[in-house]
Amino acid sequence: MNDQNSQDVSAEMLTAMNLQGKDPDPCVMVIFGASGDLTKRLLIPSLFNLYCDGLLPDSFAILGIAMDEYSTQTFRSRMTDDVHRFSRQTQFYGEAWLQFCDRIHYMKGSFDDDNAFLQLKKFLQALDGRHDTKDNILFYMATPPSVFAMISTGLEKVGLNDGHGSWRRIIVEKPFGTDLASARKLNREILTYWREDQVYRIDHYLGKETVQNLLAFRFANGMFEPLWNRTHIDHIQITATEEVGVEWRGGYYDKSGVVRDMIQNHLFQMMAYLCMEPPVSFGPEAIRNEKFKLLSAVRIMQPEEVQENAVRGQYGVGVKPDGTPAQAYRDEHLVDPDSNTETYAALKLRIDNWRWHGVPVFLRSGKGIRTKSTEIVVQFRRAPAFTFKGTPAASQLEANQLIFHIQPNQGIEIRFLAKRPGPSMHMRKVSMHFEYDEAFIAHPGTGYETMLYDCMHGDASLFSRSDLVETAWSIVQPVLDEWSTKKADDFPNYPFGSWGPKQAYDLLSPAHRRWLARKPREALARVALFEGSDETMLHAFALMLKPKVYNAGDEIAHIDDVGSELFILDQGRVEVLDRSGQVKTQFSDGQVFGELSMLMTKKRRATVRALTYCSIYTLDKNDFCKVLMDRPQFAERIMRVARDRYNVIVDTHEWLTTKT
Ligand code: BG6
Repeated sequence: MNDQNSQDVSAEMLTAMNLQGKDPDPCVMVIFGASGDLTKRLLIPSLFNLYCDGLLPDSFAILGIAMDEYSTQTFRSRMTDDVHRFSRQTQFYGEAWLQFCDRIHYMKGSFDDDNAFLQLKKFLQALDGRHDTKDNILFYMATPPSVFAMISTGLEKVGLNDGHGSWRRIIVEKPFGTDLASARKLNREILTYWREDQVYRIDHYLGKETVQNLLAFRFANGMFEPLWNRTHIDHIQITATEEVGVEWRGGYYDKSGVVRDMIQNHLFQMMAYLCMEPPVSFGPEAIRNEKFKLLSAVRIMQPEEVQENAVRGQYGVGVKPDGTPAQAYRDEHLVDPDSNTETYAALKLRIDNWRWHGVPVFLRSGKGIRTKSTEIVVQFRRAPAFTFKGTPAASQLEANQLIFHIQPNQGIEIRFLAKRPGPSMHMRKVSMHFEYDEAFIAHPGTGYETMLYDCMHGDASLFSRSDLVETAWSIVQPVLDEWSTKKADDFPNYPFGSWGPKQAYDLLSPAHRRWLARKPREALARVALFEGSDETMLHAFALMLKPKVYNAGDEIAHIDDVGSELFILDQGRVEVLDRSGQVKTQFSDGQVFGELSMLMTKKRRATVRALTYCSIYTLDKNDFCKVLMDRPQFAERIMRVARDRYNVIVDTHEWLTTKT
């Protein structure tokens, strides 16, 4: 977990939960490993948010336990300092914090020491007496999985794992195993001491409002469910990329990689919500049954299929978002200088059930990527064109897309075609948006609030059952096996701060399947040709841009080909060669080439070749014309720019009347 796990908790929703009559049970929450990062960054801030929203039971206490030398008093003052830094709660300075702080306690203890557990038992009895927690206990394992069994044994020895009338629950943090075998072993170990209904395996993605909203969107609205199947949907894309590298977590990450760290847990959770069958109720088991069924239907790759359906990447040197240089993954602290660990992966999965047969699901995630963004694209099949035969629209039909913006933007977007005003039947892609912060009043939270609240209520809907965890591992196991036995000879294969490896872009085929372009609007702002365009027009162009990635040495455009695309070089360097192979010029980040060919549909006058990794947006002439048709005055402007910059006369009439 890192400090970016911030999420908006809707006060309305939490209040609504309260109004549902789910009164919180009195309880004490014991945090094992309380002196670590998780407690100060997420656990205490979320508990405090719940407290401020009146969602903690009146009879509630927190007991931190760790090896560090604190008294309750010094632990409270450390929490006061730390939480002040991490909490975005506005009531922090008020009376509320003092009252909340009064419920925090600490004891020093080692998890392999039987005496510590005896002491813990006594401490808990005293807390029960003081806070009237009714002997209900929630144990939070904010520790590495290697000590779960040790802690569980300690608790069992003093009889703390069974409440005999009051409840005992245990929250287990990720990583839940490192592969299928270790996850099975961990499950066996945990289930030796606890019943499945006592175990809450946390995945913080399920605490995100926008992820939970996937269920609301699908099952509270009648409009989409009839379309939610292979008859209407072409493919699905799930992306979760981060700008940051591994930061201080190299030691952990180098043994993990993005498939373990993000894909088999967070991305699979989103895929399950998006693709599962409607549950018979909103009860935890009904939902978890459907998620399990969905993951069980994912086709397991054979070793020889991995190459074709899975792409791995590792970042090399590059540039951070603030413009400073970023080091390569292999140079990060505690990372093996010859590391084979992937910091990026893209997978193509198949779901073998009646609903999804033949609909590929593409997943990608990576660190050191230009944009932090989590989003899901559901692309529908294109409408048949015959209705529009004989009209320009026949060749303008494109697939509709439904886009769930999970974070940092939170909302839903639908991209569809609309008739362009005017006498002829021309179509253009347009979009419709729902933004969370326009519709709801939300205050800053951590994403953990709902999870902790639900656990205190014994509602396990947002937590993973052992069968789901094991099934998720079994899907990625062939990929992990292949990648661990075959060293990636092209690592590093993408620069830090770029769009990720080229192969990930080749994974999507045929041509109508493309990863969603990220931040295209920003790229357009760099194109001189579009200077002075208004927002509506730039938005229209932004919807048309297509992302492409090239590696050093790749040919991007060939001399004498009739060009119809404009290239916006987002990142990288290219050289422009004349017929004899002489370098005429070079272009780099933010520059544009191919304008003339696009403007005039002429043979290209040069070859363009990538000198480095290049990420490029392309704008197709047809798309360009579609937008210009609405803006004849802008077409005139472009004509003037073309004349002044390139000394050519372009026929704007051709653009405005194009039949394509
Ligand atoms: C964690 C991973 O589970 O999720 C981190 O261990 C990752 O590596 C984080 O940075 C991403 O979470 P979020 O909420 O910022 O997308």
